[in-house]
Amino acid sequence: MPMKLAVCVSGRGSNLVALLEALRGSKEAQVALVLSNRPDAPALDRAREWGVPAESLRSYRDGSEWLERLRRHQVDLVVLAGYLKLVPPEVIRAYRGLILNVHPALLPAFGGPGMYGHHVHQAVLASGAAQSGATVHLVDEEYDRGPILAQGRVPVLPGDTPESLAARVLEVEHRLLPEAVLRAARAGHPVPLADPLESPA
Ligand code: GRF
Repeated sequence: MPMKLAVCVSGRGSNLVALLEALRGSKEAQVALVLSNRPDAPALDRAREWGVPAESLRSYRDGSEWLERLRRHQVDLVVLAGYLKLVPPEVIRAYRGLILNVHPALLPAFGGPGMYGHHVHQAVLASGAAQSGATVHLVDEEYDRGPILAQGRVPVLPGDTPESLAARVLEVEHRLLPEAVLRAARAGHPVPLADPLESPA
């Protein structure tokens, strides 16, 4: 049986599409549900275009509503792909070690509350860092704090803007997240990745 995924989204959905493309025809994993805290999230339209059930939460803080939806779709693994809210503690407990997130920076730096989208890349540029990248990590009760499973690095180039850096990091995200999901499907649960991009120290 393929591992059933719920992909949680708040915005555009480019990581969702990268995952759907990587899992096209896969017998190992399939996206069974796309879930959003926003009924107008463009990512929900992407899900519908791929024929995947797309739902928005009446209340994103309501753990019992989450669990009812996840269980109705028999979800094994939860993937946060541009989901900007904290996951309720009941869901963390029910899916401990089975929730992944992709973050557009090299955690543990440039993570935490308020560190999303262009805010992250602005902070990286302001810090003068020579490298940035993406991180896939396990999700716990706090933003961006769970154990790191994989990272991919990119150079910060002279003249970079938050937009140009974000675009370079997004390319890595679109490879790293599907790889982490496929490895989890093969192992039956998320595993640290020895990734050609970079593995955690
Ligand atoms: C990505 O950069 C992701 O790392 C971050 O939010 C962005 C979402 O992009 N958490 P998209 O909606 O997947 O295009």
